[in-house]
Amino acid sequence: TGYPGLASAAADVNDKHLSCDPSGKLPCPPLSTAPIVDFKPERSVKRVRQPVHRLSRSYQEKYKLAVARMKALPASHPLSFTAQAAIHQAYCDGYYRYDTAAGKNQTFDVHFSWIFAPWHRIYIYFYERALRELVGDDTFALPYWSWDAPEGMVIPPLFRDKSANNSLYDPYRNQANLDKLVDLDYLSNARPVPIDFDGPKDETYIEAVNCNLCTVYDQQIRNGKGARNFLGGVPNFTDTDNTDRASSGTLEQMAHTAMHVWAGRAPNSTEDNSTCAFEHDGSYNCRNDMGFLGSAGRDPLFYSHHSNVDRLWHIWSTALRGGNGFNDTAWLDSSFVFFDGVRIPRRVRIRFRDVLDTRNLGYTYAAVSEKLPFLSCNL
Ligand code: C2O
Repeated sequence: TGYPGLASAAADVNDKHLSCDPSGKLPCPPLSTAPIVDFKPERSVKRVRQPVHRLSRSYQEKYKLAVARMKALPASHPLSFTAQAAIHQAYCDGYYRYDTAAGKNQTFDVHFSWIFAPWHRIYIYFYERALRELVGDDTFALPYWSWDAPEGMVIPPLFRDKSANNSLYDPYRNQANLDKLVDLDYLSNARPVPIDFDGPKDETYIEAVNCNLCTVYDQQIRNGKGARNFLGGVPNFTDTDNTDRASSGTLEQMAHTAMHVWAGRAPNSTEDNSTCAFEHDGSYNCRNDMGFLGSAGRDPLFYSHHSNVDRLWHIWSTALRGGNGFNDTAWLDSSFVFFDGVRIPRRVRIRFRDVLDTRNLGYTYAAVSEKLPFLSCNL
C-alpha cells in the first residue's frame, strides 16, 4: 500500500488516501515535495527520556533552547513549532478526509480508536528528532511530565517560569490550576477545591494523591486488560456516520484526557468544545491550548504530556506484560508519513509495527522510582 503524501503527514491507513482540507480553507501543515523514504529502525538506544522534575539545570536549558529554535523556524517550515501544532490539529479537527463506497469526505481522526497510541508515539518521535537536530545533540530525549508519580503531580515549574526566554511557557493555561496538585479524575469526579501542590501534606492531600494513583492503576491494570481495552477499538472506515471514531482505550480516555482539560480549560468556560475545536475559517480565536484537541499542540507542555502517555503505554507493554498490542495486520501495517530533517528535508513512511518496541526508535524511559508509584494505590 502507499501513495505520495500531500501534506506533512499523509496516511495510508487501510488504503485510505487522506488529504488535508480539499477546500483549501483550513490551516493545514505546509506542503512538501521532499522525497519519501521508509523508516529504518535505529541501530542503538542512545536516548533516555527523563522526568521533567528531575532534569539537571543544563538539560533544562537544552530543552528550552531546542524549543526556542523550533519556534524561530518560519511557519512555512514543516518542522516549525507552528507546523507541528498544525499537524495535530489537522489530524483531529477533521481536516483530513477520505472517500469510501459508503460515503464521500469522511472525517479522519487519530483519536478515539486503536490509532491513538502508535500515532502519538510517532508524532512525538519526529518532534524529538527535530529538537535533537536543532541543538546538535543526538542523545537529547523528550522529557516526560510524570503526573503518575507524587513528585510530578503539578505542571512542572520549568513550564511555568515566565521569563522572556522560556520557550516552554504558554499563557493559555487554566490559571486556577497552575500550581495545584493534578486531578487525574477531573473528568468524572473533579475535586471541588483545587489543592496546592506545595501545601501541607495533610490527610486531604494524601487522599488526593492516592486518588490520582488509583486512576492510573485503573487505566493501566484494572480496566486496561487486553489491547482492546487499553489501546482502543477498531476504527470504522466503512460506516456512514462521517467519522472513523470507535472507542478510546483507557490509556487515552482516563488520565490523558483529564490532564488536557485540567491544564488547559478554564473552569466554567463559556467557550464550548465545538466552537473551539473547529476553526473552519482558520482563525485562532479560542485559546485554551491543552484543553481542546485542535489547539493542544500549541502548548509545549503537550509534548512532555504525551511523552508520559507514551511511557505508560511502554510500561503496559513491558513491565505489566500487556504485550505488543493487536495482531491484526490492519493495525500493524497502518502507516503515516512524517516530516523529518530540519536542514535536509525528507519524509518518512513509518508503520505501527515499526514502533511497538521503543528500542527501534532509539529511546527508552528512566524510571521515576524503583517501584511504579501507582502500584501503591490503596483502594
Ligand atoms: Cu492527540 Cu493528547 O491528544
